[in-house]
Amino acid sequence: MFITFEGIDLSGKSTQIKLLEEYLKSKNKKVISVREPGGTVISEKIRDILLDKKNLHMEYVTEFLLFSASRYQLTNEIIIPKLKKKYFVLCDRYYDSSTAYQGFGGKTDLKSIYRVNKIATGKLVPDITFLINITAEEFVRRKKLINKDEDRIEQKDIAYYKKVIKGYLKISRNNKKRFVVIDGSKTIDEIHTDILKHLKKIKKV
Ligand code: ADP
Ligand code: TYD
Repeated sequence: MFITFEGIDLSGKSTQIKLLEEYLKSKNKKVISVREPGGTVISEKIRDILLDKKNLHMEYVTEFLLFSASRYQLTNEIIIPKLKKKYFVLCDRYYDSSTAYQGFGGKTDLKSIYRVNKIATGKLVPDITFLINITAEEFVRRKKLINKDEDRIEQKDIAYYKKVIKGYLKISRNNKKRFVVIDGSKTIDEIHTDILKHLKKIKKV
């Protein structure tokens, strides 16, 4: 089963992936979690280019194609082989991130995004996508709280994040079958319970 997690930065994706991975392992399921951009040696190198603050003037299309290149490698090297071996694959971001960030947030046109997304994934669609939805204000609050060094993309302004949030909600409405929108303002435990509840509706876990 292929499960993806989406949402803006600091929405709580990695926290929830960790909890779900622990839960599935406690049920003796085969599980692997991966992150985008990254997850393979080549993809991690592409990640470094993407997030490097020294790369000041990266064009939106350059950015999009690099994310896509990283994704193709991860999909073929890790995700597809693990799915064939009946693993639960938990992925921190997938092509919906490109649609939301580079499409709705950036200036890359959506038609090209949809076309390249198909190429970059070999048309592999997640079985279920959890969108953890937080507001831009909550993003700012959490950012101040953790006070971590920002990467190149996190340096973008609040208006950009608002567009990404709106974009994600639009994508979820266009893909109702696989999307589950989770209220990210709930506590970590409540969100974990919500995720399990939805997962159990489609798979015995
Ligand atoms: P992401 O992977 O989406 O960037 P993280 O899981 O790393 O997000 O969480 C970002 C920050 O928000 C962390 O400091 C984490 O402890 C905190 N956090 C995660 N989930 C919640 C929640 N439900 N409520 C409040 N803070 C949260
Ligand atoms: P990530 O490491 O998931 O950051 P975080 O843990 O803060 O959510 O992703 C790095 C950044 O890359 C993040 O700001 C989102 C962005 N991104 C895109 O803009 N497009 C994409 O296709 C992907 C996968 C990520």
